[in-house]
Amino acid sequence: MTYFSIFKPHFRLRVNFKRLMTMDCQSQSKLGICTASHFLMCSVVAFYGGQNYCLYRFWEPTYEDCLNLIARLPPVASYVYRRIFKSGKSIEADNSLDYAANFSHMLGFDDPKMLELMRLYVTIHTDHEGGNVSAHTGHLVGSALSDPYLSFAAALNGLAGPLHGLANQEVLLWIKSVIEETGSGVTTDQLKDYVWKTLKSGKVVPGFGHGVLRKTDPRYSCQREFALKHLPKDPLFQLVSKLYEVVPPILTELGKVKNPWPNVDAHSGVLLNHFGLSEARYYTVLFGVSRSMGIGSQLIWDRALGLPLERPKSVTMEWLENYCKNKAA
Ligand SMILES: CC(C)(COP(=O)(O)OP(=O)(O)OC[C@H]1O[C@@H](n2cnc3c(N)ncnc32)[C@H](O)[C@@H]1OP(=O)(O)O)[C@@H](O)C(=O)NCCC(=O)NCCS
Repeated sequence: MTYFSIFKPHFRLRVNFKRLMTMDCQSQSKLGICTASHFLMCSVVAFYGGQNYCLYRFWEPTYEDCLNLIARLPPVASYVYRRIFKSGKSIEADNSLDYAANFSHMLGFDDPKMLELMRLYVTIHTDHEGGNVSAHTGHLVGSALSDPYLSFAAALNGLAGPLHGLANQEVLLWIKSVIEETGSGVTTDQLKDYVWKTLKSGKVVPGFGHGVLRKTDPRYSCQREFALKHLPKDPLFQLVSKLYEVVPPILTELGKVKNPWPNVDAHSGVLLNHFGLSEARYYTVLFGVSRSMGIGSQLIWDRALGLPLERPKSVTMEWLENYCKNKAA
């Protein structure tokens, strides 16, 4: 295939586009990395694809790309996990399993409780609304008719921030740092001191607060239910429970935190850790694989509804002055 073929009529272009993506994902799986040339090629194809493809039918290749992307993520992500953290030997998919259980199997975790946890994990991390950084970024980049692979890659860059998806890894590391400093039998007073120490050093308490929610995150609650059922005696879970009592009053006392309650990230690491998936650095990858379903379905709807290019509104200095005057009046 040459670059020249992308200038041919859109039917031909679509076939080549599909081939390119298939070829690329296989090599990506082999290498465990994305190369710069991959992004360059995708960018060129996405650009010309956007120029040539009939807009009202754009949802069709978007739909196909999203399904392919969602399907290919677990093999690629589990390959990366096995290569970085295990012997390097990848595990074949078991097509009798559902999506989440199969992902767990390919990672190397076959305990039925872990399969159940992964089902819960994938479901609650899929998406909850379109305004969070990763979902919004996927939508924003897709609004330029960038293909789903590029839009999803951009979304994951947002997910990788510690105020967003990286918080799940930060929580487990922070909880472990509590134990390192205080020992395993941490008292409520010691815990309060540690929370204040974190805040006074200018850091946030990971796993607490939310941009929109104003009560305990329901995704936290269902993970708590799972833990109460399957690992009530796990010492890290008991610490998470203690934090649920200790942190909200302290954050409330700060006076500026709009939501002092725990979010989804406050719990997930401790559950994964219990079943042996203890490599915190990998947690955001799990989050990303799960989120692909939300971001992918959003992109399909964006194209089906023909939503326009997204752009923040710009205002003039005069508008700003009038706005401030009106607010002050
Ligand atoms: C999620 C988060 C980024 C939302 O931010 P937000 O929408 O600005 O939240 P708020 O409006 O309540 O923030 C008001 C103030 O409280 C602070 N705050 C909020 N949550 C806090 C926390 N967990 N620990 C310490 N301070 C916190 C903010 O940093 C902000 O301080 P500032 O005015 O000095 O800048 C924030 O709660 C946070 O940083 N949480 C910890 C990281 C985390 O768990 N992220 C995963 C979210 S699902």
